[in-house]
Amino acid sequence: MPKIFVTGAAGFIGSNTCSALLDQGYSVVGIDNFDDYYSPVAKERNVAPLLKQATFELLQIDVRDTNSIMSAFAQHQPDYVVHLAALAGVRASVARPTDYVLTNMAGTTNILEAAKTHRPKHVVIASTSSVYGKTKVIPFVEDDLANEPLAPYPATKRATELLGYTYNNYYDLDLSFVRFFSVYGPNGRPDMMPYLVSDSILHGKEIKLFDGGQMHRDWTYVGDIAAGVIGLLEHPNGYQIYNLGRGEPVLMADFVKYMEALAGKSANYIEVPAPKSEPKITYADISKAQSVFGYSPQVDIKTGLEKFWEWRIQQPDVLEK
Ligand SMILES: NC(=O)c1ccc[n+]([C@@H]2O[C@H](COP(=O)([O-])OP(=O)(O)OC[C@H]3O[C@@H](n4cnc5c(N)ncnc54)[C@H](O)[C@@H]3O)[C@@H](O)[C@H]2O)c1
Repeated sequence: MPKIFVTGAAGFIGSNTCSALLDQGYSVVGIDNFDDYYSPVAKERNVAPLLKQATFELLQIDVRDTNSIMSAFAQHQPDYVVHLAALAGVRASVARPTDYVLTNMAGTTNILEAAKTHRPKHVVIASTSSVYGKTKVIPFVEDDLANEPLAPYPATKRATELLGYTYNNYYDLDLSFVRFFSVYGPNGRPDMMPYLVSDSILHGKEIKLFDGGQMHRDWTYVGDIAAGVIGLLEHPNGYQIYNLGRGEPVLMADFVKYMEALAGKSANYIEVPAPKSEPKITYADISKAQSVFGYSPQVDIKTGLEKFWEWRIQQPDVLEK
């Protein structure tokens, strides 16, 4: 049974990825420090079903802690590593740049150092579509220079991609960076638009809609992201970068309308100008991932939002309010 480390295991994408890996027969060691960027209670809920499985183990450690990461690798000797732990909000990063640098860059360096010593077969590291900034090359392709990040968060993610290149150059590690595009689905992050819109519909909370909803985002269902990451594991090939998106950008005004139609109720939003961190569009060219490891996103936006909504209305906070 191959053993895999998944950092950020208690988070949104991490918990969904762990669940899919367990279904496929991997033995999973999850790592998370239950950071309080959003409620650790939500993270406890995410890992609860994983902890019931005999082939899942959770290590509550911090990726910034070099010694703990080194000893976890020495003890478990993982065959594969999926590194998702990070501070992930784009706009939040503007107020806390140093924290983003420490978690995303120093934390990733610790993972790379441990991988250098313990030589897993493949290290897959989360990056983001935000590295493309306001590129004029649309759809976004992996060989774009991506050297104009619009906020500290994408700057730290692009920097870790570059650091990965260095580790491949010096130590011949097989490293792939996956640039995720606006991921949504069950266990969704409370700071992201799907959750905020659902909160607005359910509890009347006011939300901000940038530029009158006239922006496009390439929303990608979390199950497709998890399948993409797992599909990639068996295709190590030196240093690589892959887009993992859906390749079908959705107008944000339509996105809100789809959610309102599901709920049979309106959201309470105000229109505000987009902040400087926000590009007009994100749009993935997914042909590289398709041809190298058969990535094939299955879930369209309406079906995915139905699954998200089904999960969302079962959350305890819905009942509490
Ligand atoms: N959700 C998206 O749309 C999206 C898009 C692009 C990239 N990403 C990337 O995907 C990855 C997962 O994102 P997510 O949306 O699941 O976010 P998330 O915040 O739900 O998950 C990240 C997890 O990492 C953990 N973590 C944070 N700092 C840590 C530390 N110092 N040590 C150990 N664990 C720590 C958090 O507790 C959390 O559980 C991140 O790297 C993020 O940058 C996400």
